[in-house]
Amino acid sequence: MNICCIGAGYVGGPTMAMIAVKCPDIRVTVVDVNASRIAAWNSDNLPVYEPGLDDVVRQARGRNLFFSTEVDEGIRQADIIFVSVNTPTKSYGIGAGSAADLTNVELCARRIAAVANGDKIVVEKSTLPVRTAESLRRVLHANSNGYKFEILSNPEFLAEGTAVADLESPDRVLIGGDGTPTGLAAMQKLVDVYARWVPRERVLTTNVWSSELTKLVANALLAQRISSVNSLSALCEATGADIDEVAFAAGKDSRIGPKFLKASVGFGGSCFQKDIMNLVYLCRHYGLDEVADYWQQVVAVNDWQKQRFVQRMIRTMFNTIAGKRIAVLGFAFKKDTNDTRESAAIDVCRALLAEHAKVAIFDPKVSADEVFTDLAAATGMSRVELESRVTVEANAYAATEGAHALAVITEWDAFKSLDFSRIYASMNKPAFAFDGRNILPHDTMRSIGFEVHAIGKPLPEPGVKVTYVTRQVESTALEAAAVLAS
Ligand code: UDX
Ligand code: UDX
Repeated sequence: MNICCIGAGYVGGPTMAMIAVKCPDIRVTVVDVNASRIAAWNSDNLPVYEPGLDDVVRQARGRNLFFSTEVDEGIRQADIIFVSVNTPTKSYGIGAGSAADLTNVELCARRIAAVANGDKIVVEKSTLPVRTAESLRRVLHANSNGYKFEILSNPEFLAEGTAVADLESPDRVLIGGDGTPTGLAAMQKLVDVYARWVPRERVLTTNVWSSELTKLVANALLAQRISSVNSLSALCEATGADIDEVAFAAGKDSRIGPKFLKASVGFGGSCFQKDIMNLVYLCRHYGLDEVADYWQQVVAVNDWQKQRFVQRMIRTMFNTIAGKRIAVLGFAFKKDTNDTRESAAIDVCRALLAEHAKVAIFDPKVSADEVFTDLAAATGMSRVELESRVTVEANAYAATEGAHALAVITEWDAFKSLDFSRIYASMNKPAFAFDGRNILPHDTMRSIGFEVHAIGKPLPEPGVKVTYVTRQVESTALEAAAVLAS
């Protein structure tokens, strides 16, 4: 059997590498229009940083795993074609800001139909709005040259940073297809691939629409937990409760569970916001405005959390950060990845730059080029302009040297065990630390002399008045506490 995957990104690359390792008799080819990405997959410097991925790729590459720019050839040779191209949120026209841009997916379908030399199974791997399979089917059949195409949905649930473990031992694999005899046969073919290493009871089969919707729903539910806990972190700061204690105690209820309850400066990543906006768009399309409003609020709270973090920094630092050096520790959207898509760091840096701060950034895996590209896109500033205000440093010590404050945005483990005495000695005083992930050793840092502010933790000095600007109203944390107390 031959498998081809169009799109050698964070999803396509690792997923196909795992299939190749687990199924040595299947030839797996990953194709991409981006030649430099393919060259990187063929080198020792993979374009995606994932713990354990190098090993997986090394085991299969050149044996039954190939990376190539020959898209047409890949399609022709394949029995099963995965479509794993990016589906960003539309930035133009109808649905701008919420609908998924399906241009890449439709182009893939047209290409498959144009060059196919036999019947094919086409698998949607990219996250797509519900009923996209129907559009794919129509495009393929209208251009089919007499060949038959079965469309399956097989959404990816891997999380970056743990992709290899998630692929090796997934909670479930979901395959959606048609209930027709040919649809069922196609599903069985894909079930048989995964069943080589995934226990059969974890390979679920559903109809196509359920499978497509499940991907959006799973991400929306996960993001909702984070926004729930983040919204409550503000209440903790106001009342003197501690969000980590509250989340731990609440999560002990087996019906709630402990995962995805870690308060943070805000969730990021290529999926959560995009998928929720997609869900919101779908709900509005079907006239379900209340449902749309409900889910939209998950994204609104996330935006608010990021703003709140920066506002707290500014107020704490005597209401001005103009000209002050701020060390930003972490730029990736979470630890153990070099991915910066929708990272909270981008919004935080944009807000700091708008206040005329000087920003010194360190991330163990994100390149300086990526930082400047992301900030240029977010601020509209030129690279030259940015370079006069932003530096990308080689380590946390260089970033914090001469800084008025440090802010942890990504929860890299290495940040927990920095030499904080050394950092304190090199910083301006008072030395402020803003922990956007609640990972630093707060007590130790306070004993060294830092003024530490953390998410959802009691304020360092009781009675400090912190005002949060919400979308419409100004409310103060202390007033909220007073109302509660009365
Ligand atoms: C992508 C989608 O963003 C996500 O919604 C989906 O769940 C899986 O696929 P990811 O792999 O993280 O996720 O995207 P990205 O790293 O951007 O990779 C997509 C690749 O497709 C890129 O390398 C791009 O060059 C390639 N591509 C895009 C093609 O080969 N052909 C195209 O027509 C368009
Ligand atoms: C997510 C889904 O988990 C995965 O199943 C899907 O296939 C793709 O989208 P990913 O975006 O890679 O995966 O990372 P995830 O671990 O879900 O984290 C998303 C964001 O939420 C990160 O910014 C992370 O730091 C943040 N987060 C996560 C929190 O702030 N608190 C938490 O408790 C968990």
